[in-house]
Amino acid sequence: MELVEKIERLKKERKAVILAHNYQIPEVQDVADFVGDSLELSIKASQTDAEVIVFCGVHFMAETAKILSPGKTVLLPDKKAGCPMADMITAEQLRALKAEHPGAKVLCYVNTSAEVKAECDLCCTSANAVRMVGEVLKDAEEIIFVPDRYLAAFVAGKTGKTFIVWPGFCPTHAKILPEHIQAARALHPGAVVMVHPECRPEVAALADQVISTGGMSRYAREAAAREIIVGTEPGIIHRLKKENPDKIFHPVSDSVVCPNMKRTSLEKIEVPEETASRARRCIEAMLNVGR
Ligand code: 13P
Ligand code: SF4
Repeated sequence: MELVEKIERLKKERKAVILAHNYQIPEVQDVADFVGDSLELSIKASQTDAEVIVFCGVHFMAETAKILSPGKTVLLPDKKAGCPMADMITAEQLRALKAEHPGAKVLCYVNTSAEVKAECDLCCTSANAVRMVGEVLKDAEEIIFVPDRYLAAFVAGKTGKTFIVWPGFCPTHAKILPEHIQAARALHPGAVVMVHPECRPEVAALADQVISTGGMSRYAREAAAREIIVGTEPGIIHRLKKENPDKIFHPVSDSVVCPNMKRTSLEKIEVPEETASRARRCIEAMLNVGR
C-alpha cells in the first residue's frame, strides 16, 4: 500500500500517466490509469496531455508512444523488456526484401522496431490488421507483411489476400498447440475458446474467437458465455476476472507466460528524431483509420 501511495504521489508530481498492457502482472494493472491492447495503448499515448508516460509493456510499445509523443518523457519499467518476435526482423533485412519486390506495399505489425517501421507504408495491430488489409490495402497487388507469419495467415484467411511474409512468430503464443485446446475443451465442456491471432493457424482453427487482447476483454463482457478458455498470455485473466466476477476463465496452458511482459524498473527511452519521423508516418496512417 505504501508503494502504491508513493506511485500515486509521484504520478501527480511528475504529471505522469501509467499505461499498462493486458499481460502485465496484477499489481501493475491495478496501479495503471489505463490497461489495454497495443492499439488502445497507442491511441492513449497519442492523446494524453500528461508530461510523462510510464509504459508498462515491452520496448516496441514504449517506443511507439515516444514516436507519437516526441515531446514527452516515456519511461519503460525495464529496458530489457523486449519482444522476441519484433527482434526477428531488422531494417536491413526488410530493405533487402523490399528490393526483391519493388512494387509491393509494406505492412508491419506494431511488434517491430522503429527502424523497421520507418521502412513501412502502414502499421497494424492484431485489432485492426484485417481492416488495414481489407480496406486500406484492398487494391494493393503485392503486400509484404512482417514479421508475424501466423498473424499474416489469419489475415489472409479473413481477407482472401496473399502476402509476401517473413518467418517471424511469437515464441510465447507458439507454445499453444492444438492438443492444449482439445484438452481444455474436454476438461471444460460448454466453455467457449478465444485465442490470439499470434497463435499457430492449426490452433486458431480450433477456436471460437480469434481476437486481440482488447477484443478478448470486450468479448468476455458482452458474450453470453459464462465459461471461457483463454488462449493467450495469462496476465489478461486478472483483468477478465475483475471485470466479470460472475464468469469463469481457464488459461489454455500454464506455460504461455511472456517473460518480457513481467519485468519491472524505470528507465527513459529515446528514439532518434530522424527514425521517429519516418516511423511516425506509418503509425499515424493506422491511427487515422482507427479500429
Ligand atoms: P495485443 O495488441 O492483442 O494486446 O497483442 C500484443 C502482443 O504483444 C500480443 O502478444
Ligand atoms: Fe512479443 Fe509474444 Fe511477448 Fe507479445 S507475447 S510481447 S508478441 S513475445
